[in-house]
Parts: sequence; structure tokens; C-alpha cells
Amino acid sequence: MTIQAEHSLEVAVERARERYVQRRPVGAQMHAEAERVMPGGNTRTVLYHPPFPMRVARGRGCRITDVDGFDYVDLLGEYTAGLYGHSNDTIRDAVRAALDDGLSLGAHNTYEARLAAAITLRLPSIELIRFTNSGTEANLMAVSLARVITGRAGIAVAVGGYHGGLMYYGGGGSPVNAPFETVLLHYNDIDQSVAALRENADSLAAVVIEGVQGSAGCIVADIDYVRALREVTTQLGIALIADEVMTSRLAPHGYFAALGITPDLTTLGKYLGGGLSFGAFGGRADWMARFDPSAPGALPHAGTFNNNVLTMAAGLAGLTAVLDDDVIIDLNRRGDHLRHGLQDAVAPFGWCATGQGSMVGLHPVPGPVRSTADLVAANPQLRELLFLELLERGWYIAARGFIALSIEITDDDVKNFIAAVDDVFARNPELRAAI
Ligand SMILES: Cc1ncc(COP(=O)(O)O)c(C=O)c1O
Repeated sequence: MTIQAEHSLEVAVERARERYVQRRPVGAQMHAEAERVMPGGNTRTVLYHPPFPMRVARGRGCRITDVDGFDYVDLLGEYTAGLYGHSNDTIRDAVRAALDDGLSLGAHNTYEARLAAAITLRLPSIELIRFTNSGTEANLMAVSLARVITGRAGIAVAVGGYHGGLMYYGGGGSPVNAPFETVLLHYNDIDQSVAALRENADSLAAVVIEGVQGSAGCIVADIDYVRALREVTTQLGIALIADEVMTSRLAPHGYFAALGITPDLTTLGKYLGGGLSFGAFGGRADWMARFDPSAPGALPHAGTFNNNVLTMAAGLAGLTAVLDDDVIIDLNRRGDHLRHGLQDAVAPFGWCATGQGSMVGLHPVPGPVRSTADLVAANPQLRELLFLELLERGWYIAARGFIALSIEITDDDVKNFIAAVDDVFARNPELRAAI
């Protein structure tokens, strides 16, 4: 990009920020109040964006309304947890029924085993399952189990991988990561990854891997890459942990099953709690049985809210009464359609659309994007300008270009969104500076 183009882009972003601030006095005021009691007014880093983050008052279907009264179509879909939209009747009824029977029962309840049965029926590699409160916790538990089973301490993860706030391996890794000894694999690079695993086999308990790196930008793994990981981990006695917190939504029986690959353990989260706090890990019965509290020397697995009735009821209703195979297939078909339409719209300007099914990424690089190395050149200001211009037109995506469809999004929404993106590029020559 020339110096002149960079300057025009800066000016355009500044103008878009000013407009955002001017039109949102209530949001600005609420953010200022939040800043007095929370660092940066924030309790979830990913939601922060300058000049101050969107604050939503309510949602219905796939629509949200911010505190200043602006309406948006929600294409962020709560980073995949919002698969059912904001007000699915079946889930609301199930939550109401659970509420009527009382909260915080301090005992096994009538929902948890039914949700476990529904999930194990869906994801064939999960023979036994346990629930947690988040995907982060699920990954920590799965890794900890693999460490006990293998008697080794280290883990291997892909550069750019996101397995929760304590297991983030983008941008050089997070300083608040759990202190596992970590070997880094280059996503989609079979030679490097296999060599790194062989070299470190004696110290590695598990490989933790996403079939599509969601947080990193919806980067899809080659099937041969995942196959190679499965093969070499089997040879070396290393556990393969499939992080399906996001990707289980991509196919009726989960993404790894669609690839024909059986991991030892799988971690889940997001939408499987029906829109409430949720996580789960499960897999091989012989390994998971180590948590059976009636067995001598059982491993402990605690969590006050692991079986909280609202999540269990919402998750069960979603999985058994809403999300049948046809709904999942339709959702992901619509996502593929969106990605192809976006690719056609943005490719002439040096951008690309990535992803698989209902998980889509939009990036200011020409692509293809096969690992985070291909995104290094992406200019954050281009992302910000697109984000602010889409907000202005009533479309909400993640500031980093992430999109996750809910089942409330229609073919018309997809068509209208592509038209909105066309319009943004037509009216903002600064965005075309990616080429
Ligand atoms: C692939 C993946 N694993 C784990 C997590 C962590 O889940 P949670 O936010 O529920 O802790 C996420 C969250 O975005 C994720 O995308």
C-alpha cells in the first residue's frame, strides 16, 4: 500500500469512528460508566473494539438492537454459540420449564444424562462424556486426562490455535496461558508437524487441534493434514484431541466424523448448551471411565455448575427438538453459499473469504489462507473500516471479520448481506487498497 493510500485509509477510519461515536451517546455513556468498575469497561476481551464496543439491549430471532436503538442483523452469532438465534421458542419453553422446577438443586437432575445421551448419539467418537462450564475448561480437562493416561506432560498445538482463554497460540501465545510445555505445529504443514511430533514424542501427552481454526480466521485444515496427525499420534502413543467447540456445528455428526477421522477425545462448547454457558469433553470409554467416582482411584472432576439445570434443559431441547440433520445441513449449505458470494464480491479488491459451512471469515488479503502466516499482511485498519461501514448499514459481524450463521438467517439475509458488502466496497475506495 502506498503512503498516500495508507493516509486515506487512516482518515476514512477516523471519520467512521467519529460517526460511530456521534450516533451512540447512550453507548458512550454506558461504556464510560463500565470503565469505572471494569478494566476497559470489559469482561470478555474479544468483544472490545475501538472507539468503544457495541452494547446490545436486546435480541430476537437473528436481529439485535443496540442501546441507542439501532437495529442490526446479527451475523456474528455469538461466535458460534448463538446457533439457535436469540429467542428460539422451543429452547425458551424448555428453560422456563426447568426454572419452574427450581435452580441450584445440588444433586444429579433429570436432564444431564439425557443431554449426554443426545450428544453421544450425535458424535460417534464420544463414548462417554462429562460436562463443564466452558470450552476452555473442557480443553483443560481433556489435556489433563491425556497427561494422566500417557504419563507425559507436554502438548502440541497449532500456531494460531484457540482452545480458550488459557490456551491461545496466536500472535506468539498468550502470557496468561496455562503453563503446559508446548510444541508448536505449523497448521497444514504435514512435514513440519510430523517431524515436530516425532522429535518430541517422549514428552507429549496430546495434540489439540481444530479442524477449522475459528478464532484464527476460519482457516480450514486439509483432510490429509488431519489424517497425518491421526496417523502419527497413533504411532507415537500421543492422544489426539479434536477441539470441536466451534466445528461440531459443521456436520450432523461433528466435523471430525465428516472427515472420517476418530480422535481419542473431543471437546465441545458453544451452541450445544442451547445458548447458555456450556462445555463438555468426552471420547474413548476406557479413558473417560477414569472419572467414574465409584471406581477405586478415580480421577476427580469438579464444577458446581457442570450440570446446571438451565443449560442442561436448553441444550437437550436444542439438540433433540430443533437441530435435526436437515437443519444442520441447511445451515451449512447457506454458509457455503454466503462464503462463495462474498469471495466473488471481494476478490476483485484483494480480499478473500475463508471458512467452511456456517463459519466464514473475511480478510484483507488475496488468499488462499492456509495458516495464520497467510494473514500476517492483513491490515487491521481495513478490517475496522469494513466493520464500521457494515454496522452503519445494519449488519453486525465480528470486528476481526468473523461470521457464524444462526439458523434464523435466511437466504434473503445472505443475499442482502452480499449486496451490503458490494455497496461498502463501492463507496469506500480506501478498502480497495488491499491490492
Ligand atoms: C475452538 C475453540 N475452543 C475453545 C474455546 C473456548 O470456549 P469458551 O469460550 O466456552 O471457554 C473456543 C471459544 O471461542 C473456541 O473457539
